[in-house]
Amino acid sequence: MTEKDFIPKPYTHTLETGSVTWESPSNIALVKYWGKKKNQIPENPSLSFTLNKCKTITTLSFTKKLKEDHTFSFDIYLDGEKKADFKPKIQTFFERIEIYLPFLKKYVFKIETENTFPHSSGIASSASGMSALALCLMSIEKQLLDADVSHKEDEGPFTQKYFNQKASFLARLGSGSACRSIEGALIAWGKTEGIEGSTDLFGIKYPYQVHENFKNYQDTILLVDKGEKQVSSTVGHNLMYNHPYALNRFQQAHQNLETLKEILGSGDLDAFNALVESEALTLHAMMMTSMPYFILMKPNTLEIINRIWNFRQKTGLPVSFTLDAGANVHVLYPHNESQKILQFIKSELVVYCQNGHYICDQIGLGANQTQ
Ligand code: DP6
Repeated sequence: MTEKDFIPKPYTHTLETGSVTWESPSNIALVKYWGKKKNQIPENPSLSFTLNKCKTITTLSFTKKLKEDHTFSFDIYLDGEKKADFKPKIQTFFERIEIYLPFLKKYVFKIETENTFPHSSGIASSASGMSALALCLMSIEKQLLDADVSHKEDEGPFTQKYFNQKASFLARLGSGSACRSIEGALIAWGKTEGIEGSTDLFGIKYPYQVHENFKNYQDTILLVDKGEKQVSSTVGHNLMYNHPYALNRFQQAHQNLETLKEILGSGDLDAFNALVESEALTLHAMMMTSMPYFILMKPNTLEIINRIWNFRQKTGLPVSFTLDAGANVHVLYPHNESQKILQFIKSELVVYCQNGHYICDQIGLGANQTQ
């Protein structure tokens, strides 16, 4: 597939007004996306667990303009409060996707959004937020084409598969990692030899058998620092240009995906823990070795990591951590070990969280339309 496949045929129906609502989850990468080319094309492939509880719920209301005025007209509300500071990001998003959604300038939009996680939690809402908005836009396009989305995967002009692919494609143009939030439970994004069907254009469902050990995998998110990040992901990605270790890193991500494929099939939890922790630390090592350099981990991030390592060594229990571009720690473990590991988290790790805050999440199946 190419970008052109996402340019729609002329719309066959008219719509005056309406609204749609989608809830879309966040995701946590096991193999990290860090570095991008033009047009939100990743420098390396990534693979993530879709989360279940950490979601954005977005209602998109639309009214047809009486007269087309060649501008994007929209307002954004977070928890009922108008957010003018969110507008530039959405404006850029609309500019990037207009060619694929030619109805955008014909309507006035109201975007009402809320997160199930506290907004000052340090949890990035761009993946869940951009995917929820992309899905709302797709639901409108579907009505304009009057397409009855076929649930048979490969039939008809506007199949469920196409709907999800285009939603992921659009979400990617809002925020790269957002393309991995449409479906679950494991999503691969970025062309790599070892994963059949993988593409830079959108996320795909991981196409291979996954061992029982990874069913219902748990992710307890320890909120170490709830403040705004000092360095945005976009700035961080850009620092991979002319980065001394960039090429090796991009290559390593392909290799790690190969290795992870074996691990996901065999259920080898020790190898899983080693790989995801190495990925997390490599991500942060890239930040520390870029120019300018920066550190997003906090002292408590390191305390938690060390305690996880000690606990794992002492008990032999399969618990590991991963990090995204921030100080918070995602503690990963299999469902059947939940009791002991959660007890450890509560007794030894929560003390390092800001105000003792943490979120118990687990692998989820993707976004849902609720209206
Ligand atoms: C560290 O998707 O937030 O979380 O494409 O610029 O919006 P943009 O970046 P973003 O980057 C996320 C990077 C990461 C790793 C990952 O999720 O793979």
